[in-house]
Amino acid sequence: MDLPVQTEVCKAQTLGELIEILHRLFSDDKVSVAEIQTLMESYESNPEEWTRFAQFDQFRYTRNLVDKGNGKFNLMILCWGEGHGSSIHDHTDSHCFMKILQGNLKETLFEWPGKKGAGAMVKKSERVLRENQCAYINDSIGLHRVENPSHTETAVSLHLYSPPFEACHTFDQRTGHKQKVQMTFYSQFGERTPYAASISQENN
Ligand code: SIN
Repeated sequence: MDLPVQTEVCKAQTLGELIEILHRLFSDDKVSVAEIQTLMESYESNPEEWTRFAQFDQFRYTRNLVDKGNGKFNLMILCWGEGHGSSIHDHTDSHCFMKILQGNLKETLFEWPGKKGAGAMVKKSERVLRENQCAYINDSIGLHRVENPSHTETAVSLHLYSPPFEACHTFDQRTGHKQKVQMTFYSQFGERTPYAASISQENN
Protein backbone atom coordinates (compact mmCIF):
# COMPACT_ATOMS: atom_id res chain seq x y z
CA MET A 1 0.00 0.00 0.00
CA ASP A 2 1.27 3.48 -0.87
CA LEU A 3 0.21 6.64 0.81
CA PRO A 4 -1.46 9.00 -1.67
CA VAL A 5 -0.56 12.65 -1.32
CA GLN A 6 -4.04 13.61 -0.24
CA THR A 7 -6.48 11.23 1.41
CA GLU A 8 -10.23 11.52 1.12
CA VAL A 9 -11.84 11.38 4.58
CA CYS A 10 -14.50 8.68 4.39
CA LYS A 11 -16.95 7.93 7.16
CA ALA A 12 -19.27 4.96 7.48
CA GLN A 13 -22.63 5.26 9.21
CA THR A 14 -23.54 1.58 8.98
CA LEU A 15 -21.77 -1.75 8.52
CA GLY A 16 -23.25 -1.98 5.01
CA GLU A 17 -21.87 1.43 4.16
CA LEU A 18 -18.48 0.49 5.60
CA ILE A 19 -18.34 -2.59 3.36
CA GLU A 20 -19.40 -0.54 0.33
CA ILE A 21 -16.67 2.06 0.91
CA LEU A 22 -14.06 -0.66 1.54
CA HIS A 23 -14.92 -2.21 -1.84
CA ARG A 24 -14.50 1.16 -3.50
CA LEU A 25 -11.18 1.95 -1.81
CA PHE A 26 -9.70 -1.49 -2.46
CA SER A 27 -10.68 -1.39 -6.14
CA ASP A 28 -7.90 1.20 -6.48
CA ASP A 29 -4.28 0.02 -6.71
CA LYS A 30 -3.21 2.51 -4.08
CA VAL A 31 -4.83 2.12 -0.70
CA SER A 32 -3.79 4.10 2.34
CA VAL A 33 -3.40 2.30 5.66
CA ALA A 34 -4.30 5.50 7.52
CA GLU A 35 -7.43 5.96 5.44
CA ILE A 36 -8.67 2.42 6.07
CA GLN A 37 -7.94 2.72 9.77
CA THR A 38 -9.79 6.05 10.02
CA LEU A 39 -12.71 4.67 8.03
CA MET A 40 -13.02 1.59 10.22
CA GLU A 41 -12.79 3.71 13.35
CA SER A 42 -15.53 6.02 12.02
CA TYR A 43 -18.10 3.23 12.03
CA GLU A 44 -19.94 3.34 15.35
CA SER A 45 -20.60 -0.25 16.29
CA ASN A 46 -24.27 -1.19 16.08
CA PRO A 47 -24.90 -4.77 17.26
CA GLU A 48 -28.17 -4.92 15.29
CA GLU A 49 -26.08 -4.79 12.12
CA TRP A 50 -23.53 -7.48 13.00
CA THR A 51 -25.21 -9.87 15.47
CA ARG A 52 -26.13 -12.34 12.72
CA PHE A 53 -22.42 -12.85 11.97
CA ALA A 54 -21.34 -13.11 15.59
CA GLN A 55 -21.38 -16.81 16.42
CA PHE A 56 -19.63 -17.85 19.64
CA ASP A 57 -18.04 -21.10 20.70
CA GLN A 58 -17.85 -22.13 24.34
CA PHE A 59 -14.15 -23.06 24.23
CA ARG A 60 -12.29 -20.80 21.78
CA TYR A 61 -12.58 -17.63 19.81
CA THR A 62 -14.35 -17.95 16.46
CA ARG A 63 -13.68 -16.45 13.00
CA ASN A 64 -16.82 -15.55 11.05
CA LEU A 65 -16.51 -14.42 7.44
CA VAL A 66 -18.57 -11.36 6.55
CA ASP A 67 -17.26 -10.31 3.12
CA LYS A 68 -14.67 -11.53 0.60
CA GLY A 69 -13.85 -8.07 -0.70
CA ASN A 70 -13.67 -9.05 -4.38
CA GLY A 71 -10.58 -11.09 -3.59
CA LYS A 72 -8.75 -8.00 -2.31
CA PHE A 73 -9.53 -8.46 1.40
CA ASN A 74 -11.35 -10.66 3.87
CA LEU A 75 -13.61 -8.97 6.40
CA MET A 76 -14.52 -11.09 9.41
CA ILE A 77 -16.05 -10.87 12.83
CA LEU A 78 -14.18 -12.57 15.64
CA CYS A 79 -16.06 -13.58 18.78
CA TRP A 80 -14.12 -13.88 22.01
CA GLY A 81 -15.64 -15.64 24.98
CA GLU A 82 -14.51 -14.71 28.48
CA GLY A 83 -10.73 -15.22 28.75
CA HIS A 84 -10.35 -16.46 25.15
CA GLY A 85 -7.20 -15.49 23.26
CA SER A 86 -5.12 -16.17 20.17
CA SER A 87 -1.62 -17.63 19.98
CA ILE A 88 1.28 -15.33 19.18
CA HIS A 89 1.13 -15.15 15.38
CA ASP A 90 2.34 -13.42 12.24
CA HIS A 91 0.19 -12.00 9.42
CA THR A 92 1.60 -13.74 6.33
CA ASP A 93 2.78 -10.46 4.74
CA SER A 94 -0.74 -9.03 4.87
CA HIS A 95 -2.16 -5.88 6.38
CA CYS A 96 -4.31 -6.48 9.46
CA PHE A 97 -6.88 -4.01 10.76
CA MET A 98 -8.71 -4.87 13.95
CA LYS A 99 -11.68 -2.84 15.16
CA ILE A 100 -13.43 -3.46 18.46
CA LEU A 101 -17.19 -3.86 18.08
CA GLN A 102 -17.97 -4.84 21.66
CA GLY A 103 -16.01 -5.17 24.90
CA ASN A 104 -12.24 -4.77 25.23
CA LEU A 105 -9.33 -6.72 23.79
CA LYS A 106 -5.75 -6.78 25.02
CA GLU A 107 -3.10 -6.76 22.30
CA THR A 108 0.42 -7.86 23.24
CA LEU A 109 3.15 -7.12 20.73
CA PHE A 110 6.28 -9.32 20.44
CA GLU A 111 9.53 -9.11 18.53
CA TRP A 112 10.22 -11.78 15.94
CA PRO A 113 12.32 -14.55 17.49
CA GLY A 114 16.01 -14.64 16.54
CA LYS A 115 17.10 -16.72 13.55
CA LYS A 116 17.73 -19.78 15.72
CA GLY A 117 14.31 -19.34 17.31
CA ALA A 118 15.77 -20.24 20.70
CA GLY A 119 14.64 -18.72 23.97
CA ALA A 120 11.72 -16.82 25.37
CA MET A 121 10.05 -14.31 23.09
CA VAL A 122 10.60 -10.62 23.78
CA LYS A 123 7.50 -8.59 24.62
CA LYS A 124 7.53 -5.10 23.06
CA SER A 125 4.33 -3.57 24.43
CA GLU A 126 0.77 -4.22 25.43
CA ARG A 127 -2.41 -2.18 25.30
CA VAL A 128 -6.12 -2.54 25.82
CA LEU A 129 -8.27 -1.66 22.81
CA ARG A 130 -11.72 -0.33 23.57
CA GLU A 131 -15.02 -0.23 21.70
CA ASN A 132 -14.74 1.40 18.25
CA GLN A 133 -10.95 1.69 18.33
CA CYS A 134 -9.16 0.24 15.30
CA ALA A 135 -5.62 -1.17 15.57
CA TYR A 136 -3.26 -1.99 12.70
CA ILE A 137 -0.38 -4.45 12.41
CA ASN A 138 1.78 -6.05 9.74
CA ASP A 139 4.84 -8.31 9.88
CA SER A 140 7.29 -5.41 9.88
CA ILE A 141 5.74 -4.14 13.13
CA GLY A 142 6.08 -7.53 14.82
CA LEU A 143 3.95 -10.41 16.07
CA HIS A 144 0.97 -10.19 18.35
CA ARG A 145 -1.39 -12.06 20.61
CA VAL A 146 -4.96 -10.86 21.21
CA GLU A 147 -6.96 -11.74 24.33
CA ASN A 148 -10.26 -10.93 25.93
CA PRO A 149 -9.02 -9.98 29.39
CA SER A 150 -12.50 -10.10 30.92
CA HIS A 151 -13.78 -13.12 32.79
CA THR A 152 -17.34 -11.78 32.83
CA GLU A 153 -17.85 -10.07 29.44
CA THR A 154 -17.51 -11.36 25.89
CA ALA A 155 -15.84 -9.30 23.15
CA VAL A 156 -16.40 -8.95 19.41
CA SER A 157 -13.98 -7.53 16.83
CA LEU A 158 -14.04 -6.77 13.11
CA HIS A 159 -10.86 -7.79 11.22
CA LEU A 160 -9.80 -6.87 7.74
CA TYR A 161 -6.89 -8.76 6.14
CA SER A 162 -5.47 -7.67 2.82
CA PRO A 163 -4.51 -9.65 0.84
CA PRO A 164 -6.58 -12.47 2.35
CA PHE A 165 -4.61 -15.44 3.74
CA GLU A 166 -5.50 -18.95 4.85
CA ALA A 167 -2.46 -19.90 6.90
CA CYS A 168 -0.14 -18.15 9.32
CA HIS A 169 2.60 -19.05 11.79
CA THR A 170 2.12 -19.33 15.51
CA PHE A 171 4.98 -19.00 17.98
CA ASP A 172 5.62 -20.59 21.34
CA GLN A 173 6.21 -17.80 23.86
CA ARG A 174 8.75 -19.81 25.88
CA THR A 175 10.88 -21.15 23.03
CA GLY A 176 10.10 -19.01 19.96
CA HIS A 177 9.35 -22.25 18.12
CA LYS A 178 7.28 -21.57 14.99
CA GLN A 179 4.47 -23.66 13.53
CA LYS A 180 2.38 -23.23 10.38
CA VAL A 181 -1.38 -23.35 10.97
CA GLN A 182 -4.37 -23.34 8.61
CA MET A 183 -7.10 -20.86 9.46
CA THR A 184 -10.76 -21.66 9.02
CA PHE A 185 -14.11 -19.96 9.41
CA TYR A 186 -16.60 -20.95 12.09
CA SER A 187 -19.31 -19.41 9.91
CA GLN A 188 -19.50 -17.73 6.51
CA PHE A 189 -22.03 -15.02 5.66
CA GLY A 190 -24.01 -15.90 8.79
CA GLU A 191 -24.16 -19.66 8.10
CA ARG A 192 -22.28 -22.15 10.31
CA THR A 193 -19.47 -23.83 8.35
CA PRO A 194 -19.98 -27.60 8.06
CA TYR A 195 -18.07 -29.26 10.93
CA ALA A 196 -15.23 -30.97 8.99
CA ALA A 197 -14.30 -27.76 7.17
CA SER A 198 -14.21 -25.66 10.32
CA ILE A 199 -11.68 -27.59 12.39
CA SER A 200 -8.61 -25.37 12.50
CA GLN A 201 -5.19 -26.41 13.68
CA GLU A 202 -5.71 -23.71 16.23
CA ASN A 203 -4.46 -20.25 16.53
CA ASN A 204 -5.81 -20.22 20.06
C1 SIN B 1 -5.86 -12.14 16.14
O1 SIN B 1 -5.40 -11.13 15.60
O2 SIN B 1 -5.50 -12.50 17.26
C2 SIN B 1 -6.86 -12.98 15.40
C3 SIN B 1 -6.19 -13.83 14.46
C4 SIN B 1 -7.16 -14.52 13.51
O3 SIN B 1 -7.45 -13.96 12.45
O4 SIN B 1 -7.62 -15.61 13.83
